Amino acid sequence: MKSNLSNASVKFIMSFGKMPLANKFLETNDFQSEKFYDMSVGFDEKLSLFQLIQSPDPEEMFDENYAFFSGTSKYMVSHFENFSDQIKERLKNISEKKKVIEIGCNDGIMLQNFSNKLEYDHLGIEPSKNVYAVAKEKNLNVINNFFTNELALNLTNYQKKTDVIYAANVICHIPDLNNLFNGIDELLNKKGVFIFEEPYLGDVIRLTSYDQIYDEHVYLFSLLSVDKISKLFDLEIIDAYPQITHGGSMRYVIGRKGEHIISDNFKKLLSKEFAQGLDKFDTYLRFKDNCESSKKRLIKMLNSFAEQNKKISGYAATSKSTTILNYCKIGKNLIKCIYDTTPIKINKFSPGMHIPIKHHQNFNITNSDISLLFGWNHKKEIFEKEKNYIKNGGIWISHISDLL
Ligand code: TYD
Repeated sequence: MKSNLSNASVKFIMSFGKMPLANKFLETNDFQSEKFYDMSVGFDEKLSLFQLIQSPDPEEMFDENYAFFSGTSKYMVSHFENFSDQIKERLKNISEKKKVIEIGCNDGIMLQNFSNKLEYDHLGIEPSKNVYAVAKEKNLNVINNFFTNELALNLTNYQKKTDVIYAANVICHIPDLNNLFNGIDELLNKKGVFIFEEPYLGDVIRLTSYDQIYDEHVYLFSLLSVDKISKLFDLEIIDAYPQITHGGSMRYVIGRKGEHIISDNFKKLLSKEFAQGLDKFDTYLRFKDNCESSKKRLIKMLNSFAEQNKKISGYAATSKSTTILNYCKIGKNLIKCIYDTTPIKINKFSPGMHIPIKHHQNFNITNSDISLLFGWNHKKEIFEKEKNYIKNGGIWISHISDLL
């Protein structure tokens, strides 16, 4: 267990109670040895940084059985193509071979867009062995390791020579930001940029989407926090792009201080954060109240359907669902099973509450009158796929009010 309370300015916001690892789907004989931690969040007032107060060791989460494959959503495949195109656009005026590094390249879904060896010198760094193996099979240049400053010091071919370092849904997983940013500094060339995107704190606060908080998300970033952290390393945000992925994300573009023009877009987005109060602790106390109300509302809604003898299931065994189920203490008595597409989750049980995971092809109106949409961020894709369910009178519900 690693404490993130390295800084005395972190103020406690709330606890979500005893939580298992969000992506550790279990067989029945794993139930006894399942590990839990206290999932509490705090706010670092100096850095305006929203964070877990303690989190399990990364080695426990990103192992050879990591259950998240980036390539499982069609929408995400095209999202990563667009992200790559934006990076390519940035690199288009560089005449020599461009050096590109992806931190946490997962199954290579995005890195494969830089596999043209005549144009790019690409490198992916991925700690989880199973997803790394998929990227390797695609003939991509990948290292099976965590990205650290120590690793960067060994990448002599890339030191102070890298044009772009990018990451998607990875940076908030890295507890030691000091070590991470030192590694970035080691690798970027003078005009090089570090681009990453993550679930966005502004959206979490706006929607009360507290399910974005789980072991892997050590931090929920904002422009305010990322800019303050970057400046500690003589870097700064030069541009930013809001994204709809993962229920609301932000893409940050960071360069060396004074080397780039800072976009008006970034300045506008930053002033929106001040207006939303993302720099103020009181905002997070209101968030706490909103989480508690959301929990009460969801439990009340499920109990009312159960009293009417409705069959209730969950849809998409996301990491986020682990937070909802364990925080609200929703078990098999209320939700019979969760339907999902990921082969290594099917026929296992959800972390903590041990709800069975079933193959998504078995999902239909006969076995589910009501479906709790845990993959709410994939609503469009899922509703398109499950048109018949809706036609046959199936009802979708969500812990986020006004989503459906
Ligand atoms: P995601 O929101 O990326 O999960 P997480 O909270 O872990 O970041 O959703 C991925 C999960 O959703 C994965 O378990 C597969 C499942 N899923 C479906 O079951 N059906 C679908 O149509 C989609 C898009 C995802």
